[in-house]
Amino acid sequence: MAPIAVDERPAPPKYHGKFRFTSRQVESNKSFNLGDGREEALLKHLQSLPELQNNPGTQPVLDAIHEFGKGENRYLMSVGDTKGTGIEKLINEKKPKLVLELGSYVGYSAICFARHLPKIHPNSVYPANWTADANEDKAGYISLEKSEVYAATARGAIELAGLGEVVKIVTGSSTPSLKNLRKTLNLPSPIKFDMIFIDHLKPLYTNDLKVMEEEGLIAPGTIIVADNVVKPGNPAYLSYVRAKPEQKRAMLSRPPLKTQPPVTPNPSDPSEWETAFCDGPLEETLWTPVESDGVTGHGDPDLVYSSEMIGGWDPYTGERDACEVSVCLRKESS
Ligand SMILES: C[S@@+](CC[C@H](N)C(=O)[O-])C[C@H]1O[C@@H](n2cnc3c(N)ncnc32)[C@H](O)[C@@H]1O
Repeated sequence: MAPIAVDERPAPPKYHGKFRFTSRQVESNKSFNLGDGREEALLKHLQSLPELQNNPGTQPVLDAIHEFGKGENRYLMSVGDTKGTGIEKLINEKKPKLVLELGSYVGYSAICFARHLPKIHPNSVYPANWTADANEDKAGYISLEKSEVYAATARGAIELAGLGEVVKIVTGSSTPSLKNLRKTLNLPSPIKFDMIFIDHLKPLYTNDLKVMEEEGLIAPGTIIVADNVVKPGNPAYLSYVRAKPEQKRAMLSRPPLKTQPPVTPNPSDPSEWETAFCDGPLEETLWTPVESDGVTGHGDPDLVYSSEMIGGWDPYTGERDACEVSVCLRKESS
């Protein structure tokens, strides 16, 4: 894989203290009181801004979301612009046609990334028409979101940004949604996504990656970008995506874990963060979180990835973070 430029801009100012949740915790809406009404307030705020009313374009909407998140008790768990810029570069370089996102939240990343698709693929059909004809030449950005409230804010923000035809938000729990995605969206079968942005519940990353592999949503050429692999970190995910096929095959014969194993702790304040956040034991990937709603992913161990981190910062706390970018290179025969 060609090296990806790391955005080396300095850390943003610290608008909020450290966001405390660990890769062990299930979605921590209580930390920072996410879901306390700020997401609905954000949509009302965006809709009230005169400068966003008449096709403002995407950047003013992103800026307005970011500004809102700086306020007291208004932290937003968006990817932010430093990690976002690295991913935008990747999109412009690799020119994905079909993009899948796990975790829309208020729509920041969907706006930031999907805005490039119409420029790259001006003659393709976008999600508004996806149920019309499964054989049309399609491009677009599908985003899965569990919360109806967050999805409503995301849809509103995406409309304001002029991307209502490009982005389709599917509400529901990601794991069953992935299992049924082709049916729900009348997608052709097989279908491969060119890029996948994983940014939802941290303990679900590995199981959902395995479900996507099994469902044929990932194939050679797919680029998978996983957020927050430094903050809070995701050693289980890193171990899976960096493992060799024979290591993953060996895991298939082992019984699933009934309880979550002790998670490899991340160093609290790493100076050498690129190397400090390494993969954990592959055994951790044998655990299926209850939030997968009974859908266990077994994966396709024959898929080979080339994987590396691109760095950036949390947009509001100024903490180091990174995305793991994994390119599916080939499928080995077992
Ligand atoms: C970190 S936020 C996503 C941020 C967004 N990608 C951005 O950068 O603007 C994580 C989102 O995942 C959603 N989520 C959590 N568990 C989920 C699940 N099982 N299925 C789908 N979405 C889920 C949360 O409701 C939350 O909106």
